[in-house]
Amino acid sequence: MTLDETLLRVPLFAHLSEPEIHRISQITRKKTYPKNSVIVFENDPGDALYVVDSGQVKVVLTGEDGREVILSVLGQGDFFGEMALIDDMPRSANVIAMENSRLIVLYRDDFHRCLEAQPRIALGLLRALSRRLRSADDKIGGLVLLDVPGRIARLLLQLADEGDGSKISRKITHHTIAQMVGSSRETVSRTIGNLTERGLISVTRKHIAIADRAGLEAAAGIR
Ligand code: CMP
Repeated sequence: MTLDETLLRVPLFAHLSEPEIHRISQITRKKTYPKNSVIVFENDPGDALYVVDSGQVKVVLTGEDGREVILSVLGQGDFFGEMALIDDMPRSANVIAMENSRLIVLYRDDFHRCLEAQPRIALGLLRALSRRLRSADDKIGGLVLLDVPGRIARLLLQLADEGDGSKISRKITHHTIAQMVGSSRETVSRTIGNLTERGLISVTRKHIAIADRAGLEAAAGIR
């Protein structure tokens, strides 16, 4: 696929005309990162914005004892690295490749020029930042108001809602779920087993399906 075709499918650049997309493709380039490599280091100065072309990355905070909290998992079409370019502060988190990933890189000066020349990109950016803030609000609410099984139930619903709501299509390990809800892998495995026994979800080798949405919502404190 050409870079133009790839960029056309990125939500951040939705609403741009083909010539506008072409101008962006001329100032970006593709870069590949192997699984587990760090793409962005927390506290570094930021010099670029990245769009995920293929693969999956996690946005992570690391404690002094090495424990990780995953703030978000990003996949095809998502972007990251915009914050340091917008507020001129250091990188707010680490971003690490969870699988071999191909990224589209847009450097700082080009990013600012793009924003000035194509204000519709700024609208796409605001929309995405607003969505990100909603999801961070949800997370803060969950941490204070829900116990760990409730947080897991809510996360499973959110992941399913990235698609048609019936199943979680992306690959996700119990360890990753634990780092997303601030728990341990053992507790996640026990909770998933319990939700399965209660008939709220069903687990196959390929994916986790939502078997009883109303029941899972009740477990997530939504009803
Ligand atoms: P920046 O601070 O430049 O580098 C780290 C990036 O991680 C940041 O920009 C955002 O793009 C991304 N990021 C930080 N916090 C979150 C979050 N809560 N959800 C999704 N992405 C985030």
